[in-house]
Amino acid sequence: MSKVKIAPSILSADFSWLGNEVSAITKAGADYLHIDVMDGHFVPNLTFGPAVISSIKRFTKIPFDVHLMIEPVDPFIESYVKAGADIITVHVEAVTHLERTLQLIKSFGVKCGVSLVPSTPAWHLEYVLDIVDLVLVMTVNPGFGGQAFIPSQLKKIQQVRAMINKVGRPIELEVDGGINPETAKLCIAAGADVLVAGNAVFGGNEVKDYPQRIALLRGDPI
Ligand code: DX5
Ligand code: ZN
Repeated sequence: MSKVKIAPSILSADFSWLGNEVSAITKAGADYLHIDVMDGHFVPNLTFGPAVISSIKRFTKIPFDVHLMIEPVDPFIESYVKAGADIITVHVEAVTHLERTLQLIKSFGVKCGVSLVPSTPAWHLEYVLDIVDLVLVMTVNPGFGGQAFIPSQLKKIQQVRAMINKVGRPIELEVDGGINPETAKLCIAAGADVLVAGNAVFGGNEVKDYPQRIALLRGDPI
């Protein structure tokens, strides 16, 4: 079985020296850089857009895992590709013609992902599992870092794992929200293979702690 991937979310990083945070988290062993784009409309918070993303690209070579919490989506896809996104994930709840949106993302040569908020059932994925590269199960309601993990989502992670195994394509199963060493274990056992973590990695912004915080999430012996 391949090792679980850790995708630190820069939402919890120190924005005043974001480039340094990106370098530090890369050195600490992050697999992906998780980038939360919020529009103050689909979610009740506002973060950053393509200009900030392209400004940090030079600080790392790890893939940019861009989580779009915006509505509409389609008019903005190209600008996130140009900014350096390697994986673009959109919300089922924010998109009407999901298959079209995913094909649009793929047409730019980047990977596409689909995310479900906690109240959205797994069956929404059924007719896109032939094209998606990643499924993101939200384990909090999207909008903010530092929220508590919602345990009911473990069942959904198991359901999505079973759906992915049945399809037999290399689709990553990512979880996002309230992930700490304890909830990480539960999610891995339920079938997750990519863990997003904001506060559990960046909380305290102590650069020297980042490698250990990542190792704890992976379940590596310290
Ligand atoms: C929430 C974001 C998450 C957030 C996770 O809407 O999608 O990526 O940064 O933060 P923690 O790990 O602190 O719950
Ligand atoms: Zn996210």
